[in-house]
Amino acid sequence: MSDVSMPDAASIRNLTVTFATDGDPVVAVNRISLEAHAGEVLAIVGESGSGKTVTANALLGCLPRRRP
Ligand SMILES: Nc1ncnc2c1ncn2[C@@H]1O[C@H](COP(=O)(O)OP(=O)(O)OP(=O)(O)O)[C@@H](O)[C@H]1O
Ligand SMILES: [Mg+2]
Repeated sequence: MSDVSMPDAASIRNLTVTFATDGDPVVAVNRISLEAHAGEVLAIVGESGSGKTVTANALLGCLPRRRP
């Protein structure tokens, strides 16, 4: 079986996360896309504050709900 036919273990398309703050909104993640296939190990690397934890929390459904 080729990799192409294996199902994605995880997939994100054009994810943007913006936090409301007392000041200006903070764009924590700006249009990121990624795919991890079964059997693959995916590492997200980047400088501090670049959005790694927010991306992972979004993938896991661990971000707070959008404000009404
Ligand atoms: N609850 C929040 N409210 C406002 N801004 C936030 C919130 N959580 C994260 N941020 C901002 O989002 C951006 C991305 O943060 P994140 O924690 O994802 O970075 P990181 O890549 O995991 O950094 P580190 O390597 O230091 O762990 C940062 O500018 C951070 O200040
Ligand atoms: Mg982090």
